[in-house]
Amino acid sequence: MLIVLAILGVEVANLYMLFGVIIPYAAIAGFLTGIILQVVKWARSPVPFRIPTVAGQQKSLPWIKNSKLESPHSFLGVIGRMILEVFLFRSLFRNTKAELKNGPTLVYGSSKYLWLAALAFHWSLLIIVLRHFRYFTEPVFAFVPFLQNLDGFFQVGIPIIYITNIVIVVALSFLLIRRIIDPKLKYISLSSDYFPLFLLISIVITGILMRYFTKVDIVSIKELAMGLFSLQPVVPEGIGIMFFIHLFLVCVLLIYFPFSKLLHMPGVFLSPTRNLANNNRMKRHINPWNYPVRIHTYEEYEDEFRDKMKAAGIPLEKE
Ligand code: HEM
Repeated sequence: MLIVLAILGVEVANLYMLFGVIIPYAAIAGFLTGIILQVVKWARSPVPFRIPTVAGQQKSLPWIKNSKLESPHSFLGVIGRMILEVFLFRSLFRNTKAELKNGPTLVYGSSKYLWLAALAFHWSLLIIVLRHFRYFTEPVFAFVPFLQNLDGFFQVGIPIIYITNIVIVVALSFLLIRRIIDPKLKYISLSSDYFPLFLLISIVITGILMRYFTKVDIVSIKELAMGLFSLQPVVPEGIGIMFFIHLFLVCVLLIYFPFSKLLHMPGVFLSPTRNLANNNRMKRHINPWNYPVRIHTYEEYEDEFRDKMKAAGIPLEKE
């Protein structure tokens, strides 16, 4: 439906300004505002105690060996664990699969496919987005040709086929198919799980069609993109419809982002189960909004009832 909307809007109604300028600006504004609001909301949530999720021995007595990465007790350890999580999805590496075998016996086993597909997808996406910087700046940043050469390493075909294009299609297909063929996963999957996958697959396919099949005018596209970023928007003539579909789907992804599970991108950094050092035994953490409580110690209690306790023969700490 979104693709049809873009075709009708651009090809039939000629709404070039709407699809080339207004919607992209609205999408960027919505994306940034939505993320900032959400991050501020998270940052304002009180986190009085240390609640990291750990998978290793906590630091305690000197002769007990602790795990610096699995249960980090210092800020440096937290950074190390965060880097491994963000770049290598370390926690997903522990993913397990439950299966009912003959017997019937429930068997848990290691399952690395999800980790591998997730890693392949995210890394390809990052490289593709970074490569796209060639449309946004003039002269292009030095990392862009470097990534292009690396990604086109095998030099197959004309235009050269990017490895990330193949990897991202395979990885996204795996992520979608596994939701459809695994009954357990299908049962818990919602439209909010399928929609981002459909969106990403459509963005990637329109991009691939543009690069390898239906040619588009890259010079005009760069003019449009740079116009948007320099706040002097223009929509040059002759840009193919495939580009407008690609751009419109990217805009929908940006607007949808702050309302969706895709928020895990900024979320991982603000998650108290990941960004806190586990130093509960080294440092006493006191709830900052603890109110003063009137207490009555045993000493005071005994002072108050000493006579009665003595008379009843109850042993006393202080005679
Ligand atoms: C989430 C954001 C985006 C994703 C995932 C994405 C994905 C892709 C992919 C996979 C390709 C195939 C070729 C390649 O890998 O370079 C592609 C091509 C392309 N994309 Fe995007 N894209 C995104 C955003 C954009 C934006 C904002 C623009 C606007 C300028 C754009 C313009 C293009 C153009 C012009 C091509 C054709 C490249 C060529 O012919 O060499 N893309 N895109």
